[in-house]
Amino acid sequence: MDKMTVRDMEVNGKRILVRVDFNVPLDEETRAITDDSRIQATLPTIKYLIERGAKTILCSHLGRPEGKVVEELQMTPVAQRLSQLLGNEVQTTVGCIGPDVEKAVEKLSGGDVLLLENLRFHPDEEGDSNAFAQVLAQLADLYVNDAFGVSHRSHASIVSITNYLPAVAGLLVEKELNTLGGILENPAHPFTELIGGAKVSDKIGLLENTMSKVDCLLIGGGMVATFLKAKSYETGLSLIEVDKLDTAIGLMEKATRNGVRLLLPVDVLVANEISAETKAKSVFIENIPPDLRIVDIGPQTIENFSRELRRCQTVFWNGPMGIYEIPQFAEGTKSMARLLASLDATTIIGGGSTAEVVTEMKLADKMSFVSTGGGASLRFLGGKKLPGVEVLLNKKS
Ligand code: 3PG
Repeated sequence: MDKMTVRDMEVNGKRILVRVDFNVPLDEETRAITDDSRIQATLPTIKYLIERGAKTILCSHLGRPEGKVVEELQMTPVAQRLSQLLGNEVQTTVGCIGPDVEKAVEKLSGGDVLLLENLRFHPDEEGDSNAFAQVLAQLADLYVNDAFGVSHRSHASIVSITNYLPAVAGLLVEKELNTLGGILENPAHPFTELIGGAKVSDKIGLLENTMSKVDCLLIGGGMVATFLKAKSYETGLSLIEVDKLDTAIGLMEKATRNGVRLLLPVDVLVANEISAETKAKSVFIENIPPDLRIVDIGPQTIENFSRELRRCQTVFWNGPMGIYEIPQFAEGTKSMARLLASLDATTIIGGGSTAEVVTEMKLADKMSFVSTGGGASLRFLGGKKLPGVEVLLNKKS
C-alpha cells in the first residue's frame, strides 16, 4: 500500500480523529449489537493509539438516519461494547460537533477514548460538506481513516475532512488494502472466485476486473437464473435481469477466451415461494418447473464446487449461494462456508452478507481474512478507486 499510516505519525499527546465503521447490526427490539466484528476489527488501531498516549476521538455512522436524530441509532450500545472490549470506559457525546463536543475533547488526557454521536444525524455528513468537515477537523490534530467499509462513499468525514487535517490510514484500512490488493496483484494459483448473491449487476465489475487473474469461477446465488436464461434454460419464476442477459453471455465468452473455467450449477433447489413454511426440492437445471423458482444450489453442485475448491491455493468468496436466511434454502451457502473453513489455502471473504454468514456460523477465525466492507470491497476488487483512500497522504518515496 502506497499510503501513509498511523505508524508513520507522531501521536503521543495529540488529538487524533479516527473515522471508524461502527455500522453494526442491532437487534430491532433490544438494540443489542448482534455482530460486533466491525468493532473488534478496529481494536488494533485504537489500542495502538491508547498505548502511545494519544487522545483518541472516534467518529462513525450507524444506519441510515438521513440527517435526522433517530433515537434507535444513537451510538450508546457501541460505546458500551467498545468499553467492554477495551476494559476502559469510552465516553460519548450528545452531538458530533458543537460546544459540548469541544469541551469533551478538551477534557481528554493521553490514552483516553471518546466516541462522537452518529455522524449521519447531521445532514451535512452525506453531503460531503466542507463547512461541516472543517468544524469536525477543528477537534483534532491528525485524521485517521480506519473505516474501510465506508471508504467508497464521498462523505464529509471520509473525503472533505482531509482538506483540513493531515490524513493517514488506520491499521484496518491498511490490512484490507494489502489483503484485497494481494488478490489483484499476486494470488497463489490455482485461484478460484466463488460468486453468489441476487444480482449479476452487483458483480459485473468484480467479474470483469478479476477475469484475467482467476483460474476458475464458480457461480451460485440468485444470479444463476440470469446465466441459465442466457443459455436458454427454463428458469421458472426466478428473477431474471433481462437487461443483463447479454452481459452474462459476454462474461461466459470472456471466460472461455481467458482459459477460465466458469462453472454454473448443474442442479438447484426450487420452491414455489420464499417462506419458512415452503418445502424445496432438488432438480437438474434441464428440469426447472415453470411454476417454481430457484432458491439454492443443489447437492450435485455442492459436490462439484467443493471438488474445485479443494484444489485451490487462493479462494475469494462473495455472495450467498441461495436464500440463506431461510434454513431449508441455506445448505448451499453453509456447505461452502464449512468447506472454505476446512481448506489449507488463503481464503478471503467479501464483506456484507458473506461476512455475516461466516460470523454467524462461528467460522470467521477459520478464514484467512474476512473483509469489513461489502460495497467497498466489491468496488475495490472491481478495479475502481476508493475516494476515502485516494485522499490519504502518499508514502514518501
Ligand atoms: C456498510 O455497512 O456497508 C457501510 O457501513 C456503509 O454503509 P452505507 O451503505 O449506509 O453507506
